[in-house]
Amino acid sequence: MDISALIRERRSIRKYHDREVPQEVLAKILEDALWAPSALNRQNWQIVAVRGEQKEKLVEAIAKTNKYFKPHLEKLFPEKMVNITLQFFRTLGGAPVILLVYIPKIIVEIHPEMNNLERYQNEQGRLLSFISAAALIQNILLLAKAEGLGTCWMTAPKHVEDEINEVMGIEGKELVSVIPIGYPDQKPPAPPRKDNKVRWIGFEQK
Ligand SMILES: Cc1cc2nc3c(=O)[nH]c(=O)nc-3n(C[C@H](O)[C@H](O)[C@H](O)COP(=O)(O)O)c2cc1C
Repeated sequence: MDISALIRERRSIRKYHDREVPQEVLAKILEDALWAPSALNRQNWQIVAVRGEQKEKLVEAIAKTNKYFKPHLEKLFPEKMVNITLQFFRTLGGAPVILLVYIPKIIVEIHPEMNNLERYQNEQGRLLSFISAAALIQNILLLAKAEGLGTCWMTAPKHVEDEINEVMGIEGKELVSVIPIGYPDQKPPAPPRKDNKVRWIGFEQK
C-alpha cells in the first residue's frame, strides 16, 4: 500500500478480534516506529506493551475514565454515540494488546502574563517530549495498519492516569496516550475531513 493510501485508509478501530498478535509482529512495528524524529534527538519516550492478566487490570483502570468522560461526551454527541463510546471504554474493544506511551514527568509553570518566549522556555521540555511522542505514535498507527492491525490513539484515559500508573507500578513518568492494538473486527467509515486547513501564500489559490 502506498503511503498516501495508508494514511487515508487508517481508521480508529474500536472493536477487535479475539486473536493474538505475534510478539515478533509487534516488535517489528515498534522498532520501526522508534525511527520517528524527536526534538534534539532526545528520544525520551517509553513504550509499554501489555497483554494477558496485566492487560485485564489495565482495562479495568481505564474503564474508570467513563466517570469523567461521560458528561463531556453528552455535551457533544447524541445518546447512541455516547453509549457506543462508553462501551468502548469499558472493554477497549477487546484488544489483545494495549500500548502505553510515556515521557518523563516534567513539571511546568505557565501564567497568563507570560510572553511567548517566557512561556516556551518554561514549557519546552514537556512540549517537545509530547510532540515527539506524537510522531512516534503516528508511526505506530501507520505501521500497524500496514500489518493489517487496527489501533485507536486515546488520550481520554489521561483522566485516570494515576489509576493506570498504580496498576502498572509506574512512577516519575507522564502518560501521553493509550493505544489498543489488534486485528480489527470492524470497518468504520472515514469521518470526513475539513476543508480550508492550508493557507497558500505566493502560490496559486486552491
Ligand atoms: C490526540 C488524539 C486523542 C484521541 N483520543 C481518543 C480517545 O480518547 N478515545 C477515542 O475513542 N478516540 C480518540 N481519538 C481518535 C479520534 O477520535 C479519531 O482519530 C478521529 O475521530 C478521526 O477518526 P479516524 O482516526 O478513524 O480517522 C484520538 C485521536 C487523537 C489524535
